[in-house]
Amino acid sequence: MSTTASARSQHKAAEERARAAARDGAARPAGAPDFDALLRQDPEIAGVLLGESARQADGLQLIAAENFTSPAVLAVLGSPLGNKYAEGYPGARHHGGCEIVDLAERIAVERATALFGAEHANVQPHSGSSAVLAAYAALLRPGDTVLAMSLPHGGHLTHGSPANFSGRWFDFVGYGVDEETGRLDYDAILALARTHRPRAIVCGSISYPRHIDYAAFREIADEVGAYVIADVAHPMGLIAGGAAPSPVPYAHVVCGTTHKVLRGPRGGMVLCGAELAERIDRAVFPFTQGGAQMNAVAAKAVAFAEAAAPAFGAYAHQVVANARRLARALAEQGLTVSTGGTDTHLITADTTPLAVDARTARGRLAAAGIVLDTCALPCAAVPDTRTALRNGLRLGTAAVTTQGMGEPEMHRIAELIAAALREDGTARAETRALVHRFPPYPDRG
Ligand SMILES: Cc1ncc(COP(=O)(O)O)c(C=O)c1O
Repeated sequence: MSTTASARSQHKAAEERARAAARDGAARPAGAPDFDALLRQDPEIAGVLLGESARQADGLQLIAAENFTSPAVLAVLGSPLGNKYAEGYPGARHHGGCEIVDLAERIAVERATALFGAEHANVQPHSGSSAVLAAYAALLRPGDTVLAMSLPHGGHLTHGSPANFSGRWFDFVGYGVDEETGRLDYDAILALARTHRPRAIVCGSISYPRHIDYAAFREIADEVGAYVIADVAHPMGLIAGGAAPSPVPYAHVVCGTTHKVLRGPRGGMVLCGAELAERIDRAVFPFTQGGAQMNAVAAKAVAFAEAAAPAFGAYAHQVVANARRLARALAEQGLTVSTGGTDTHLITADTTPLAVDARTARGRLAAAGIVLDTCALPCAAVPDTRTALRNGLRLGTAAVTTQGMGEPEMHRIAELIAAALREDGTARAETRALVHRFPPYPDRG
């Protein structure tokens, strides 16, 4: 039998197994998640689960990196797939008994390449940071120069923080955003690239709210002979849903996360062309990781199928529409929104025009049940202090959009944020009243 014919028959056998189990009323595998067992055995941790589940449903979850993954993804994560050791890749494992989980990884890779239009996908990285580490391991040598967004302007820890392997092992040069507009200045990045001749240029950010011009990065990189590494941990789900441009045609390597807007399990992935496939695979395993977590790999497959469905495209576009509405409404409430708005799920805003610093703001919002982050703001709202970097709020609309909230609710959220910042005593009850209309898991009570 040819490889394709054998793969097809394995897919069919797996589907038939599931249908037969459903017919026999035995659709739950032995070892499927059993909360009652946890409750009996370990009430302390059962209580943690109950508490966290209630907390997530009882407030506004505006952390830009978070989302509510589906019950199907959660079912795979908590399954006996997590028991399986599977070092290596499908068909070439260091452990026996991998024939079933091999199928899960093959399906995940097929779905990922189809979803993102990439020639190759590695779905094993345990996290976004692991994906970036693998990209560096594949393309760089210790001591190489790398150009990336500086951390105070929105770079991630893996983009050269001295507290991270990246800053320790490579020579990072930071680029920033234009102080007037808050936007990337591609001429300035080109000038830096010409001066420093980096081996790689990283594009991607934890807080930049605008689309990135990947073609411009590729042009700059080609001029100086550098690789482009696109770290799209944040917009990966928007890219999957067609609501943000794709770096795949331009970047040599694309790193991402499968949680955040993509709404899958916590984890990472790497995309690249066929010519770098082997280097990337070797950089993930055995260079930077051991055995793949097969429950997470299979859960990624489920998330990729969800993201390929038309409903996910609608979701991704609604995430952006909601973020734009929320950014506008926050500005109407007196906050200064960086770059004047957003193209993505993510907003950063300065609270100082309301005479509240970011840390105090986050505390007041938390007290009202509104959960979000602070982040460095490269452009301050008050021009005189522009050169003094300060913190602002960072928030996103991925989770509230999954809950079914739309633009009217974004307007309401901005009102609630303003009320909480004023320490209006009604903000907690009003937040609760809003979120209880949109339970994250409506069928689960
Ligand atoms: C741009 C960027 N890269 C990498 C990461 C790391 O992802 P993880 O927390 O899964 O390691 C993040 C996480 O927020 C990110 O925003």
